[in-house]
Amino acid sequence: MQTLNDIRSTFLSYFEKQGHTVVPSSPLVPRNDPTLMFTNSGMVQFKNCFTGVEKRDYVRATSAQKCVRAGGKHNDLDNVGYTARHHTFFEMLGNFSFGDYFKSEAIPFAWELVTKEFGIPKDRLYTTVYHTDDEAFEIWRKIGVPEDRIIRIATSDNFWQMGPTGPCGPCTEIFFDHGEKFWGGPPGSPEEDGDRFIEIWNVVFMQNEQFEDGSMRALDMQSIDTGMGIERVAALLQGTNDNYATDLMRALIEASAHATSSDPDGPGKTHHRVIADHLRSTSFLIADGVMPSNDGRGYVLRRIMRRAMRHAHLLGAQDPLMHRLVPELVRQMGEAYPELRQAQPMIEETLKLEETRFRQTLDRGLKLLDEELGKLPEGGDLPGAAAFKLYDTYGFPLDLTQDALREQGRAVDTEGFDAAMAEQKAKARAAWAGSGEAADSTIWYDLAEKHGATEFLGYDTEAAEGQILALVKDGSEADSQGPGEAFQIVVNQTPFYGEAGGQVGDTGVIETETGRARVTDTKKAAGVFIHFAEVEEGTLSRGQAARLTVDHDRRSLIRANHSATHLLHEALREALGDHVAQRGSLNAPDRLRFDFSHGKALSREEIARIEEDVNRFIRQNTAVETRIMTPDDARGLGAQALFGEKYGDEVRVVSMGKAQTGKGQGGDTYSIELCGGTHVARTGDIGAFALTSETASSAGVRRIEALTGQAALSELRGRDVALAEIEGLLKVGGAGVVDRVKALVDERRALANEVAQLRRELAMAGGSGQGAKAPEAEEVNGVKFLAQVLSGVSGKDLPALIDEMKARIGSGAVLLIADTDGKAAVAAGVTPDLTATLSAVDLVRAAVPELGGKGGGGRPDMAQGGGRDAANADAAINAAKAVIGG
Ligand code: ALA
Repeated sequence: MQTLNDIRSTFLSYFEKQGHTVVPSSPLVPRNDPTLMFTNSGMVQFKNCFTGVEKRDYVRATSAQKCVRAGGKHNDLDNVGYTARHHTFFEMLGNFSFGDYFKSEAIPFAWELVTKEFGIPKDRLYTTVYHTDDEAFEIWRKIGVPEDRIIRIATSDNFWQMGPTGPCGPCTEIFFDHGEKFWGGPPGSPEEDGDRFIEIWNVVFMQNEQFEDGSMRALDMQSIDTGMGIERVAALLQGTNDNYATDLMRALIEASAHATSSDPDGPGKTHHRVIADHLRSTSFLIADGVMPSNDGRGYVLRRIMRRAMRHAHLLGAQDPLMHRLVPELVRQMGEAYPELRQAQPMIEETLKLEETRFRQTLDRGLKLLDEELGKLPEGGDLPGAAAFKLYDTYGFPLDLTQDALREQGRAVDTEGFDAAMAEQKAKARAAWAGSGEAADSTIWYDLAEKHGATEFLGYDTEAAEGQILALVKDGSEADSQGPGEAFQIVVNQTPFYGEAGGQVGDTGVIETETGRARVTDTKKAAGVFIHFAEVEEGTLSRGQAARLTVDHDRRSLIRANHSATHLLHEALREALGDHVAQRGSLNAPDRLRFDFSHGKALSREEIARIEEDVNRFIRQNTAVETRIMTPDDARGLGAQALFGEKYGDEVRVVSMGKAQTGKGQGGDTYSIELCGGTHVARTGDIGAFALTSETASSAGVRRIEALTGQAALSELRGRDVALAEIEGLLKVGGAGVVDRVKALVDERRALANEVAQLRRELAMAGGSGQGAKAPEAEEVNGVKFLAQVLSGVSGKDLPALIDEMKARIGSGAVLLIADTDGKAAVAAGVTPDLTATLSAVDLVRAAVPELGGKGGGGRPDMAQGGGRDAANADAAINAAKAVIGG
């Protein structure tokens, strides 16, 4: 038997032998197409190669591409499980030529592969060509396909377009006849939709480009794009007409049957098929970074998950089922798609979480559904309000309710459902309007309501295409924007991180066909990412497809700082204790800042230990892991969360580092935090960590600032250079520097004391001027009065000098005026025997006005004051003398 894995290898190695480069599947979330919800064919990743916009270093490629068709234009969800060939997930095998070979080689390649490599009998094959394509007809005829088996088709079935715009062209298809036991007719016949003639390969001759206005141009080069659904080929090669009977799908169905102790082909057959299909789409979507949510891609994922989970419930599964089937899926497909194996824990956890939570409401929802149905007449439709209640209260997506009614031949009143939804939105809007949010933020709420939340792609990529949904200028929408003033851009999906959780917003470039804008900041409001921008060139318009590119270097620096903050947080807890809790943080490109609760300054030893710990975990270079779980589970794991912060139903948990000893439920994981930010892939990417300051931020809160990577190294280098300079000046090196500096500090202190002493002595001796002599005291009103103007001393030297002068005269009054660069400090002293009748305060208060000052004060034996003008010192002395003179 040719297994599905064999078929994939045969296909890829056949084309490799024909000079094609084997290109890995691109992610399910398209990076290069803003309008596409999921990658839905092999050519998506090569879209721009056909139009010539993108050049690669090969012109022939082959791939096995994972595809999802659910939600959006191609929505097969409703039929999955009930038919032989509908899937939400499938693989498309393809070969591609970018301006290299064309029809005359593409057709023989296809024929050889199908008839020789796969060994499909020629007499079971039919081909179709576009009705005007004589050239293709002729090639098929020459190869040996009888003319009556080359069918000309005039419809769009044989003119392939990837969407309303983009590369396109006529195609030729190969059909397989499953034989008379199936009903159906060849392509183009009225019975063509039967199960007998099945298309297995579509070969597109890419030669045109379709534009939005309906016009079409011939492409400069002619290319080939082909698509073969691997499940269909596997079916026919394994002798069945049912994709679900092929080896891979059968293995998944059996795993489902085994896990629910039920018969794979019994009454639960449809349930097993739904589960097998949905297991593939949900697991691959999670592996590609899609998380269940209530918006956009995340909601499509949730819808598929819940549909499968209801079918598991119908099988009587008592416990969550889906996550238990993941190992079998990984066994089947993990080799061809390594991302699946890598994401296995994440897939299992996400499925388990979703199923556990959904089960909490499923029973009650189904009971409500039964009650509602009991009220209805035979075959009557379910009222929209009931379907909405199931959606809103019990988490039943509309298609799940429709699926549940399908077996009874009933439908849902979808208009009533939409009306109930609209009413709820109106209520939410009114609540928002009354919530006290700033008026200018209403526009973001309006945009969120109109277009849904912006999808963030930035955990996985730094560049992606998005569609411009709105341009906002001064709080209102604009159609287009040229160079000049600042404005804001809203797109449907973006790799730009919107400022949150201490991490600053991204900067970068948004470009369209007609212009380029620089993004200077990104913020978030009401789930909408707001790109603050300025047009640098041309014009940007609403509705345009745009290429969004995050400034890579800056984002890398921010990532390193954010991851280092997590390590720092844990290092602080280890060094200081569990009372350490985050009080704030900043993760900018050039630095990080972390505020935390702790009562006192950190010691030098603590700082050293923390810095060492962080660097140790950087060098450990373990992978940084991200998981999604409930806040309770996350806390159970010991995850650090912000106290008082409101978390949603699901949180992102970022873990890094391996501790020496196991710590709680988190095992030996060093740091576990709830965090929506972007992080390095491995701790080693942080490079290095240098703590630059530790200060008080507010009462009981300390603040650490630090650097990482090159900035940390530059900081350390800078310290080194400064030290080298000091060593040079001191002419000592190494540990001697500290002793030398200590000695210098002591010496300086001693010298300063000595200088002050000498100054005082000099002043006492009458100053340092020419012919200086010690001042003489004079008799005023029977009191010895000694007055002197001093230079070279400061105000604070005066009290000591006053004391010395008083000692010298024994009994009397002293007035000293220090002339410091024209300004005056004055002090007066009165010996104790005279203070009863004479106060130093009065002397100072008399002198101060003459010096251009005010006031002055002290005690009767010693007072001080000051003024602006030392030149009037003589007048001041006379004023004091007048006080003594009475
Ligand atoms: N792109 C073509 C398809 O999807 C081959 O059918």
